[in-house]
Amino acid sequence: MDNFVFHNPTKIFFGKGQIEHLGKEIINYGKKVLFVTGGGSVKRIGLYDKVIEILKEEKCNVYELSGVEPNPRLSTVKKGIEICKSEGIEVVLAVGGGSVLDASKAIAAGAKYDGDVWDFYTRKATIEDALPLATVLTLAATGSEMNGNSVVTNWETKEKLGTNSIHIYPKFSILDPTYTYSVPRDQTVYGIVDIMAHVFEQYFSHTSNTPLQDQFCESVMRTVIDNSEAVLERPDDYDARSNILLSGTMALNNIIRMGMAGDWATHMIEHEVSAIYDIPHGGGLAIIFPNWMKYVLDEGIEKFKRYAIEVWKVDATGKTDKEIALEGIEKTREFFNRIGAPSRLKDYNIGDENIELMAEKVVKRRTVGQYKKLTKEDVKNILTMSL
Ligand code: NZQ
Ligand code: ZN
Repeated sequence: MDNFVFHNPTKIFFGKGQIEHLGKEIINYGKKVLFVTGGGSVKRIGLYDKVIEILKEEKCNVYELSGVEPNPRLSTVKKGIEICKSEGIEVVLAVGGGSVLDASKAIAAGAKYDGDVWDFYTRKATIEDALPLATVLTLAATGSEMNGNSVVTNWETKEKLGTNSIHIYPKFSILDPTYTYSVPRDQTVYGIVDIMAHVFEQYFSHTSNTPLQDQFCESVMRTVIDNSEAVLERPDDYDARSNILLSGTMALNNIIRMGMAGDWATHMIEHEVSAIYDIPHGGGLAIIFPNWMKYVLDEGIEKFKRYAIEVWKVDATGKTDKEIALEGIEKTREFFNRIGAPSRLKDYNIGDENIELMAEKVVKRRTVGQYKKLTKEDVKNILTMSL
C-alpha cells in the first residue's frame, strides 16, 4: 500500500432519536444559525419543526435558506453566502440529502472568502477557512455527512464540479435511519447505486498489498446488496435502512481506501452528463459504471476476477479469468436492473448529440482515471456504449 495521512474530524451521532444531541452540540459553534434545506421533504417528515423547536430552546437566532435543488446550483449557494455575510452567521446547519449538504459546504466556505466561491471548484483558489458546518442527513447515498467533498453545478456554464477540503468536513452529523423511511423508491435506488459506485471507484485500483482495504470494500458492497431488497420492499425496515445508511457513510469517508489510489473516472463522466441533462447522479452511474468496467477490464483482470468471486460468489470452476471477471460485471448490471435503476442513456431521452462536448469537458481540467487513464476518445467510447 502507499503512504497515507488519515484525518477525519467529523463526529457521528448514529441511530434513532439522536437528534436529541443537536441543541447542545450546535451551540458549541455559535447561536446565529443558517438552517439550510431542500425542496420540502424535511417539512413533510416533521423534521423541520423538530429542528426549529430545538434551536429555539437553545435561544438560537435562526436564518433560513430553503429550496436547494438536487444537483445543487451555484446561484442558490450564492444566496446562502449572502445571508452569512450580511447577518454574521456563526454556524451552518444542513438538513437533507447530499445536495443540501454539498450546497451548505459551499456556503460555509464562501462565507469566509472574498472572491467568487466558484473559484474553489475551478481550482483557481483553495479553501483556507469555512464557517463550522453541522448536518442532519435524510438520504443514504453520497457520504457527504462524513467527508470534505462538495459538488455544485454552475448552470450558466453547464459545469458540475467538485471541491475538497479539510475545512468543510461537518463538525458533526446526525444520522437517524428513521429519517430515511420516507425516501421515495427511485431515490433509494439511486442512493444504493451511488454507494456501490463509491466503493468501485476506490476498490478498482492498481495499488498492491491492500488486503484489509479490499475486504473493507467487499463488506460494504455485500452489505448494500444484502439489504437492498429489504429497503425497497419495506421502506420502514429499521435494520435494513440502518445498514444502508452506515454503508453510505463508510463508502466515502476515506477509511476503506487508506493508502490506495482511486479511479473516479466514472464520477467525472457522470457529472458532465448531469451538468447538461440534470439527471439524478445515481441514475447516471448505474448506466455508465458497468460499461466503464467492461472498457477497462483488460488493464487488470485480477481485481475484476476477485470482485466476481468475493462479492458475487461467481463459481470459477472451469472458467478463464476473463470469463469470471465478465460474469461479475454482468451480475452488477443485473443487480442494478433488478432494483430498477436505468441502464441506458436513452432511458433519460439522451442521444449522441452532446457526446463530443461531454467528453471534451471531462478531460478539460484533470487526468481522468487511474485504473486506465482515459483520453477524450476513451470517454466518447464509454458514453457511446451507454447510449
Ligand atoms: O429537496 P428535498 O425536498 O429535500 O427532496 C430530496 C430530493 O428531491 C429527496 N429527499 C431527500 N431526503 C428525503 C427526500 N425525500 C423524502 N424523504 C427524505 N428523507 O431526494 C431528492 C434527492 O436528494 P439529493 O440530496 O439530491 O440526493 P443525494 O443525497 O443523492 O445527493 C446527490 C448530490 O450529491 C452529489 C451528487 O453529484 C448530487 O449533486 N455527490 C456528492 C458527493 C459528496 N459530497 O461526497 C459525492 C457523490 O459522488 C456525488 O457526486
Ligand atoms: Zn457518487
